[in-house]
Amino acid sequence: MTQARTPRFIQCHVADTATERAEIERGLLDPAASVSPKYFYDRLGSHLFEAITELPEYYPTRTEAAIFATHGAEMAAALGTGSTFIDLGAGSCEKAARLFPLLEPSRYVAVDISVSFLHDALKRLQREHPLLDVVGLGLDFSSRLELPAEVLGAGRPVFFYPGSSIGNFTPAQALAFLARVRERAAGGGLLIGVDLVKATPVLQAAYDDALGVTAAFNLNVLRQLNRLIGSDFRPEDWRHVGLYNEADSRIEMHLEARRALTVLWPGAQRAFRAGERIHTENSYKYSRGDFAALLERAGFAPPACWTDERGWFAVYWAAAR
Ligand code: AVJ
Repeated sequence: MTQARTPRFIQCHVADTATERAEIERGLLDPAASVSPKYFYDRLGSHLFEAITELPEYYPTRTEAAIFATHGAEMAAALGTGSTFIDLGAGSCEKAARLFPLLEPSRYVAVDISVSFLHDALKRLQREHPLLDVVGLGLDFSSRLELPAEVLGAGRPVFFYPGSSIGNFTPAQALAFLARVRERAAGGGLLIGVDLVKATPVLQAAYDDALGVTAAFNLNVLRQLNRLIGSDFRPEDWRHVGLYNEADSRIEMHLEARRALTVLWPGAQRAFRAGERIHTENSYKYSRGDFAALLERAGFAPPACWTDERGWFAVYWAAAR
């Protein structure tokens, strides 16, 4: 009789609160203040992001889903079945799970910064796919991509990085990240979703929606900072700014002080002038050709590319031969 499997969980990343605090303080004290977008995603922040994906203005998630729905069979033909499918930033694991009927991986490795986020999702997934070998890996893969050999197993490694999360990196960081993936993808490859350059008003609306959900998502980072460094940010003193910087092909999100104020936390403080900003996120947009070139520079074979009919979003399959 075949035994129903249970997911295995491995935690590699241990949040080092002292390092984290030092990083946050350095960003806040810089004359051009900034905070890493990774701090958006506490429990509420993750829910607010889910809500963003439902907004009429936020096209990336549903456009990418439509590309998978339309071209999934072609993708599966290119990728092959029986792979070790490594989902970077898995979260709810939904995007990957929708591909399972086509890709039929032999092993699914869900990577996220925190294994606890993955727990419920993977238990549910395992119930739906009782024979699939499921591994949850807690790893901050943005800085290091150290996948234990036991995690990769013997299967062909196929990496999955959907949602245009690559857009949070600068192009130079993105290249370095892709090269790290390439090193570990030998014999397999990378399936990646990338948001494309388009008319500025479309981009701007996607990051500054009428309901103010993106504003709430952005402002929520202040609550996280208060929790992490003990600061006294008041969200009502700040305004959400989401703009498209055409010269750098990137959306920028900022929080702008509504009045002159000083933020205090144990050991330090920072004065802000009225209108002064904290840079909270970049979301780079690529042209189809530029991203293909980046993949090749990272050592991948010339990629296959699928897009929607408006050409707003692209999914690439880049083999690592
Ligand atoms: C999760 C990084 C892909 O850049 O579109 C959505 C985050 N920020 N709205 C993106 C985000 C504001 C999102 N990524």
